[in-house]
Amino acid sequence: MVAPVLEVVGGHTLSGHLPVSGAKNSALVLLTASILCSDQCRLSNVPSLVDVARMGQVLEAFGIKVKRPEPNCWELDGSAIAHAHAPYEIVSKLRASFFAIGPLLARLGTARVPLPGGCAIGARPVELHVRGLKSLGADVHIDGGMVNASVPGGRLKGAKIYLDYPSVGATETLMMAATLADGETIIENAAQEPEVVDLANLCRAMGARIKGHGTNTIVIDGMEKLHGAEYATIPDRIEAGTFLVAGAITRSDLVVGPVVPDHMTAVIAKLREVGCRIVPEGDNHLRIQAGDRLLPTDIETLPFPGFPTDMQPQLMALLTLAEGSSIITETVFENRLRHVGELSRMGADIRVKGSAAIVSGVPFLSGAPVTATDLRASAALILAGLTARGTTIVQELKHLDRGYENIEQKLRGVGAKIRRITDPNELSADMSSADRLVQTTTEEVKAGDRPPVSIN
Ligand code: UD1
Repeated sequence: MVAPVLEVVGGHTLSGHLPVSGAKNSALVLLTASILCSDQCRLSNVPSLVDVARMGQVLEAFGIKVKRPEPNCWELDGSAIAHAHAPYEIVSKLRASFFAIGPLLARLGTARVPLPGGCAIGARPVELHVRGLKSLGADVHIDGGMVNASVPGGRLKGAKIYLDYPSVGATETLMMAATLADGETIIENAAQEPEVVDLANLCRAMGARIKGHGTNTIVIDGMEKLHGAEYATIPDRIEAGTFLVAGAITRSDLVVGPVVPDHMTAVIAKLREVGCRIVPEGDNHLRIQAGDRLLPTDIETLPFPGFPTDMQPQLMALLTLAEGSSIITETVFENRLRHVGELSRMGADIRVKGSAAIVSGVPFLSGAPVTATDLRASAALILAGLTARGTTIVQELKHLDRGYENIEQKLRGVGAKIRRITDPNELSADMSSADRLVQTTTEEVKAGDRPPVSIN
């Protein structure tokens, strides 16, 4: 049995509306916030994704009762939470499940969570989480790959915490932990990402006293107890950005939404710089009208409100076709340029120097068999395939399925020629060697680097 692949036939202009799902990175952490109370929390606009399902399994392992009355609605009942031990098989595949350590410690006074390990885009340590939890009074010991944490006296104590780096996950872990701590916690140099704000808003709906979310200083006044709440996840700004790039790269006129335009300022600015017109459409949609020419631009990934690292591969795909050279500098993750080799197989001209990629625009890309190396790299290869001459076959869809809800159906809805193939005999004639290629790649992955468990 060979793994499924995506076949993308390039060169078709797109038109219409691309719907945006709830934000994966918000939903994952909103689900863990349900640990904080013994009532029921009801979360809507939760995307149906492999990563979200994995988070559900982790919560069930803790004893949280999970119901899904509708595909995008989750009801979480934390009244019978009993275990504070996260299963290694899932944490090793889903970094965000490590973030449960904060609410577990706050609610149960103990937590045993495996270190998440590295992933395809970098080492991704958790020392900022651990140091912050120690500041809140937790005893934390790492032994045999396991983080064992407990709270002497049973309740965390408010503290002033300075994060060396505005880590999204560390800010979320510590903010959740501090909601039930005794006294005031101040997190300085906190992450300002919209997903952090979304989590703060859910915690506030649960009764938490939080101020300053969305700035670099978050102040949490701990409560003895939180209560249940109903809450809707914000739209996924990375999915929306990916769709805007789909419009730009196919020189199309598309409407994308719902979105919160303020979450997308950096991406919109860069798309305008490359020559696209982007205007609001109604209250919460954006219309992109691509120009005939694509201009080069430089990009440096940064914490919010800077340009998001999760949009870097997609913008790189676009800039491969700009009239001139662009420099893309990745500052957030140390190993997030692995898609360069795959884009190059499609005819892109990209040179990597350290953490920078120099992208010299080419007149066109050519369809080719390519292998996705992580979630956002998968999106970049699909985008490249949409504009390439000929057919592109994207392999290793396990990454894509972690983070994009129904992406093929959504793209087909605006005219893209894209389909998932499980039988190699179904591949188009010009990809007749692809069945061989699918098998070869599976073997290479087995024999080569450890399987990437990219977790962004
Ligand atoms: C989250 C997002 C991910 C996004 C990233 C940066 C989720 C589930 N994932 O990941 O999609 O790409 O933010 O916007 O929300 N670091 C440390 N020590 C720590 C923690 C982080 O050195 O204790 C480093 C990381 O290795 C990385 C950088 O800080 O180089 C940013 O990581 P962080 O903001 O923590 O990302 P995540 O929360 O893991």
